[in-house]
Amino acid sequence: MKGEASDSADLHYNPESFPAATAMPDFATRLIAWQHHHGRHDLPWQNTCDPYRVWLSEIMLQQTQVTTVIPYYQRFLARFPDIESLAAADENEVLQHWSGLGYYSRARNLHAAAGIMTEKHAGQFPRDFAQILELPGIGRSTAAAISAFAFGERRAILDGNVKRVFARCFGIDGFPASKAVENSMWQQAESLLPRQNIAAYTQALMDLGATLCTRSRPDCAACPLEKECVALAQQRVNELPTRRPKKALPQRATIMLLLRHQGEILLEKRPPSGIWGGLWSFPEIEEGTDVMQRCSERFGLTVESEPAMHSLDHTFTHFKLRITPQPLAVTGMLPRAAQPGQLWLTLEDAIDAAIPSPVRTLLQRLTQAGKVKK
Ligand code: ADE
Repeated sequence: MKGEASDSADLHYNPESFPAATAMPDFATRLIAWQHHHGRHDLPWQNTCDPYRVWLSEIMLQQTQVTTVIPYYQRFLARFPDIESLAAADENEVLQHWSGLGYYSRARNLHAAAGIMTEKHAGQFPRDFAQILELPGIGRSTAAAISAFAFGERRAILDGNVKRVFARCFGIDGFPASKAVENSMWQQAESLLPRQNIAAYTQALMDLGATLCTRSRPDCAACPLEKECVALAQQRVNELPTRRPKKALPQRATIMLLLRHQGEILLEKRPPSGIWGGLWSFPEIEEGTDVMQRCSERFGLTVESEPAMHSLDHTFTHFKLRITPQPLAVTGMLPRAAQPGQLWLTLEDAIDAAIPSPVRTLLQRLTQAGKVKK
């Protein structure tokens, strides 16, 4: 399917984990038999080989569930019953019939492709696979599904549902949208293709992925591949397919000043926006700053170092923060009016204030170590 996420990291990819497809020679036979008895047979785009209808349904189903698609498919087809009517329509009207289905580039591509068919293919849907692939909005898997359903061609599909079935059934590790895993899955998909009944097999793979081998709560007991499924045997159904690898977050660092004076500790109110906006936190300085000088300039304090404490890592959605606490004992304080946005609090009161969780952790560590001078 076009537009599917791809990741070049290929984390966890292990070619050894791809068993030869011949390891399960009756894969297709089982799926076809299961589809015959338990698959979906009465969807509005089934029981037709009209490539226009097959194409329309496959495009609508690319990012949308069957139940949502059905009424849209019927309304669209009633207004644009064939390539000719679609090509002749105003794009706005096509979009209007797509309204609510989302991913509107699908509708624009559909309209553009109908125009191309009118100009280049005598108003017919092309049968040649390379020509189908050239049409806007049609990727390899969609082209294969159209070829299989409309023309009975022996082509492999590989959409998100099929990747899930393969990852579980064959115990394939690695993020399925990564190039290496995807390439291997395409090979697997090709080698599993039956010689006959390609349409039933293609529908079976789709139905299995959509109805039994679902992302959460798959119905393994009802699955025709239950005995062979590697993920089930290894109790890894919930682990496979491997989730998208987490991006490494940028690392930032800060030094928090734990300034203590007569049993109290200094907290500052953070600016209203930004991280921990409006919360009370320890004053911060950047690495490399002269601590003594800064304490004197900023707070009118003379200080001396206290024994070091372990640093602390905190993860935000967009970065990681390494917090290095710098415990300091105040030895002298210039007489000056209380600064707005600064508070000297006992440890107990500080823990009860509106503080971020790493600040709470540090306060708790101080409490436990009995480090605050009373
Ligand atoms: N998802 C993608 N293509 C489908 C089809 N032809 N039937 C059901 N679900 C699908």
